Amino acid sequence: MDNTKKSEGINTSKILYGKPCAEKVLLDVKKNIEKFLLNGVVPHFAVLVAKDDYASMVYVNMKVQKAKELGISSTLYYVDQNTTTEDVVSEIVSFNQRKDIHGILVQLPLPKQIDKDCILSKIDPSKDIDGLTSFSMGRLAMGLNGLFPATAEAVMELLDFYQIKLLGKRVLMIGMSNIVGKPLSLMLLGRKATVTCAHKDTKDLKRHCMDAEIIFTAVGKPEYIQKEWVSEGCILIDIGYSRVEGRSGDVGDVDYNSVLDHVSMVTPVPGGVGPITVACLMKNIVKAIRI
Ligand code: GUN
Repeated sequence: MDNTKKSEGINTSKILYGKPCAEKVLLDVKKNIEKFLLNGVVPHFAVLVAKDDYASMVYVNMKVQKAKELGISSTLYYVDQNTTTEDVVSEIVSFNQRKDIHGILVQLPLPKQIDKDCILSKIDPSKDIDGLTSFSMGRLAMGLNGLFPATAEAVMELLDFYQIKLLGKRVLMIGMSNIVGKPLSLMLLGRKATVTCAHKDTKDLKRHCMDAEIIFTAVGKPEYIQKEWVSEGCILIDIGYSRVEGRSGDVGDVDYNSVLDHVSMVTPVPGGVGPITVACLMKNIVKAIRI
């Protein structure tokens, strides 16, 4: 697991690849699925996705494909410009009632005419595999067991896999989305880290970055965290994804090449938190069968 590189006396960072951690999570998921299949239960989740949103379709296809490889079935419901909030609600109510469907995932964003908050509030909490209902968030805030957002779970899996300790650490969470920033802040707090939450209105973000021992960033601003922004030996967990015109592939929030010889650990993008997120979603589907 020690992938620290040393050359000519320069300490380069330990790169926190997601793949081995994702494989570990998936191994456990596979064992659970085998048991369910032996008992005649086929894990099955429903996905609601905006058909015209290219990125959403890419992400959903990745999730459905991974599920298929594992023996998990999926049912897709496509939302378009003509779909109403009532249409989506009635679909969710029907998914809630179906015994053969264990989880419901609403891939965001949905088209503008749809009332997203209304939709999410209709998901049966026992099928909330992406942890986006107020019920799930409430349980997370109270430190109770439940179904929580896969990306936030993925970061916690990564920290545990690489034995990164949180107790008493000064950690900075940049971004306050319901999918990543808020749930992850609560998880870090639950592990007794000293959590600072930053967002687009935070004053003097650089000072907060310099002060942090571990920085988590999930804002989708390509490569905005530079070497000069972080203290030497800091740990950087990059959860940002952006497409930059003229460049192939995704780019993270961290200017990876500039920080590489300066920080002690850093996640790459792609290949860091991303693969673990899909594995954690699969884990939540299996968990939802038991709830
Ligand atoms: N849109 C972008 N990322 C996510 C995610 O993790 N979950 C859901 N439901 N929608 C998303």
